[in-house]
Formats: sequence, C-alpha cells, structure tokens
Amino acid sequence: MVLSGVEVAKHDNKESCWVVVHGKAYDVTEFLPEHPGGMKIILKYAGKDATAEFEPIHPPDTLDKYLDKSKHLGVVDMSTVSKVEEEEDPEEAERQKRIANKPLLSQCYNLLDFEAVAKNTMKRGAWGYYSSAADDEITLRENHDAFHRIWFRPKILVDVKEVDFSTTMLGTKVDAPFYVTATALGKLGHPEGEVVLTRAARKHNVIQMIPTLASCSFDEIMDAAEGDQVQWMQLYVNQDRAITERIVKHAEKRGCKGLFITVDAPQLGRREKDMRSKFTDQGSDVQSGQETDNSQGAARAISSFIDPSLSWKDIPWFQSITKMPIILKGVQRVEDVLKAVDAGVQGVVLSNHGGRQLEFAPSAVEVLAETMPVLRHLGLDSKIEVFVDGGVRRATDIVKALCLGAKGVGIGRPFLYAMSAYGQDGVDRAMALLKDEMEMNMRLIGCTSVDQLNPSLVDTRNLSAHVTPVPADNLSRKVYDSLATPAWKEPKAKL
Ligand SMILES: Cc1cc2nc3c(=O)[nH]c(=O)nc-3n(C[C@H](O)[C@H](O)[C@H](O)COP(=O)(O)O)c2cc1C
Repeated sequence: MVLSGVEVAKHDNKESCWVVVHGKAYDVTEFLPEHPGGMKIILKYAGKDATAEFEPIHPPDTLDKYLDKSKHLGVVDMSTVSKVEEEEDPEEAERQKRIANKPLLSQCYNLLDFEAVAKNTMKRGAWGYYSSAADDEITLRENHDAFHRIWFRPKILVDVKEVDFSTTMLGTKVDAPFYVTATALGKLGHPEGEVVLTRAARKHNVIQMIPTLASCSFDEIMDAAEGDQVQWMQLYVNQDRAITERIVKHAEKRGCKGLFITVDAPQLGRREKDMRSKFTDQGSDVQSGQETDNSQGAARAISSFIDPSLSWKDIPWFQSITKMPIILKGVQRVEDVLKAVDAGVQGVVLSNHGGRQLEFAPSAVEVLAETMPVLRHLGLDSKIEVFVDGGVRRATDIVKALCLGAKGVGIGRPFLYAMSAYGQDGVDRAMALLKDEMEMNMRLIGCTSVDQLNPSLVDTRNLSAHVTPVPADNLSRKVYDSLATPAWKEPKAKL
C-alpha cells in the first residue's frame, strides 16, 4: 500500500511523529528522545519530507540499523507530501552568487587557496563544522604555526636529478608520504561525500582513513575503492562493545588494512564556531529554557555514543578481536608513546584532532620532536610507526615531519575544503600541488628519497619556545575565520 502525504501529515507532533526519507515513511515517535541530535530538529520535519536535512548527516543504512522494522511504514506518494517551507534566505542568495563567481580551479596554487574558496562558498553550518576547533582555537593555529618555527639546514651539490618521495606506511607502498585522515560528515561539503576522497586517493595512490562517522556508509566507501587500493578505518569506540566488535570485524573482512582507534575524544571538545552556526541555521531560541540541544553543533549531536571509559586496559581486547594493525590516534606525549609500544600496538598518530579537542594540547610536530630521540635512545624506533597530523598545509611541513622521524602525515581539512569548493577535481589538484611541492622541496633540501630525510636537516631550536614566528604567515592569517561574538537581534542597531 502506498501512503498518502495527507496521512503522513497527520503525524506531525511529539505524540505521533512520522517523517519521510527518500520516499518512505518512518514512525520515529519512540526514537525522539534518543536522537543524538535532539528531538527538536526531527519535530521540525514531523509529517513532512526530511530527506534534505537527513542526508548529509546520516549514512544511508542508519534507519535500517537503528529503527526497528515495525516502524518502517512503507512507500509514500511523494507528489502529495508537503515540503518544509524554507524562508527566502538572502544569505543563501548571496552564497549562490559567490559560487557562480568563484575563482577557477587553476587559480588555486596551494592548499590555503582552497580554504579561502570554501569559506566563501560553503553553507554556513557546514563551514562551521569543518573549520571549528576547541575554545579560542589557539591549538588549531598552533598546529600550523609550529611548523614555521622549524627551519631547514639544507644540503647542496647533491645530484637530485631523480627524486623519489614514495614511501611505505604499515606495509603499504604509497606514492607520497601523506594520507587522507578521517573527517566526519563528508556530505556537508559535497553531495557524494567521502567517496570523492576515495577516488582522489586512488588516483594519487595514497591511503584514505575511513571515519566511523562518515556520511556515506562504510561499505559505500569500501566499494568506491578500486583494485588493490588500501584503506584504513578510524574507530570511535562505542559504549556497547558488541557494536564495536561488529564494526571492527566487518572492516577486517572487507579488507581494511589498519585500525586507527581515536583516543583523544572521551568527550568532544567545545567548538563554538560550530555551535554558533548551528544555532543560527536552525533558528533555535535560547530563551526557550532547557531545550538548547540544537545549539550544541553538529559535532556533539553525532557523538554521544562514544565511550568515555575507554582505557589502556581495553587494548588487549582489541588485539583479540582483530588481526589488523592497531594504531592509537590522538597520542599527545612521549610517555604515552612508550606505553603504546609496551601495549604492543603497531603505531601511533601524534595528533590533537586538528585542535578540536583539548585546547592548549601541543602540536603533533612538537611532540614528535620530543618523542623520536627518546625512542631512538631506547632502541624502540623500529618497534612502532609514528604518524602525525594537524596543520599540515605545505610539503615543507611534510618534509619537516619526515626529517624528525614521522612515517607519514595525515591531512584533514585541506582535502575537505578542496572537495567542498571544487569536488573531486579540487581534491585531485590539492594532491597534485602537494606532490609538486614535495618534489621541489626534496631537491632543494638535497635529498633524493625519503629515507635520506633525517634530523640533521632541520633546526628545531625554536620549536618549543611557542613564540609566534616572524615573519608572520600572511596567507593563513588572511584565510583564518576569526571567532565571532553573539549576534544581536537587530543587526544594524548602533551600539
Ligand atoms: C571536520 C572534521 C571532522 C573530523 N572528524 C574526525 C573523526 O570523526 N574522527 C577522528 O578521529 N578525527 C576526526 N577529525 C580529526 C582529523 O582526523 C585530524 O586529526 C585533523 O583534521 C588534522 O588536522 P588538519 O585538519 O589541520 O589537517 C576531524 C577533523 C575535522 C576537521
């Protein structure tokens, strides 16, 4: 039986709430209080078509996974379903104008150029989610700045005619020493989501790490890979370990080559840019008392399942359920790297989650500079692969990290911005630009392969001084979107 829009529209309240997604009706009444994003957002679409709001945030198998089959009501005659009236939005009209006039892709010469275009073309809520970081975003900027406190000590008169910057990560041969790190909610930036990154990674023979909170389903992202393309999996550990076990075993069965367990997020950081843009986009009203769930931002809305009790004691359990290499993502001090070696994991990612978690967490590259001498001194440097991420925007950043002993570097936001601004062509160009920069910098530093990169090629004396570098980095300062203060009810009011 096909349901009519009139029937669906009767169920438009808390007592009986139906929504339509992709032409099918669902009874979500009992699910309302459990919705990680809060019930208010669902109620906005009660009795109506919620597809446009649902799609970017939820993988397509969400309803099958989380809503009992008895609540799947069946196909709806879409010609009879009422749409949510979106008010005419002058801001959206302006955005469309900017999209029509955006710079040509060939005018983007570096990763920050993509950020500048994305900032001006993405929807405000999506930009808020991608660009935001914890508190005052000091760690976010420090991640980038820290690289500027490292200077090179280049070699000259080396024959650098042939340069090879391919390398190996966890046994996989890759064409460049960077990988696409896990970033949630790809469809906020591009309607196809994470599979765009999969295709670009394939083209450039680099590895993609698949996020637990991807907008595409895990299988869609695995299916988008071609031939012997290697993918890793990022894991947020669920409070329900049976769910985690299922996810891990499925990833292994599907051929994932590494399990990156995120260990820096027992609670998600406060990302105020995200919260503020979410607040504005959904028109929530803080005056309405306790119902502030919508103002929490996309990040918190999707992450309430993460287990804050995860500890070192759990590592043997992971080792017992999978043969994939295990890598701890989000390690922030040398003592914990040593514990990771002790625990017998295969790798660590020194990372502060792109500045999105603990404000004043150190940059990965600073932790790397502290860590590698200790590992070498203890003869442990071959026991574990050390990766870094955060703030990498130039191949010089990559070269510096490799000189200090990193096996590879993860890149997050720049690929999201390139994808949001120009789709797959954008990500393709971003990767190609990085490779061009890699080749040039290898030559200019006097090395023909990554195994020649070593600590004698960098001067890190200023690294831990935490003094803003001089000369200032004008490009990134210009692109940086400063935090805002609360908006006034009457924007033009003179204060
Ligand atoms: C929009 C966004 C979403 C992210 N989502 C996740 C995630 O789901 N899991 C995770 O472990 N890390 C996540 N991260 C952190 C990244 O994996 C990585 O640590 C960080 O982006 C590196 O910094 P960069 O953006 O400066 O390159 C996310 C980062 C961003 C910017």
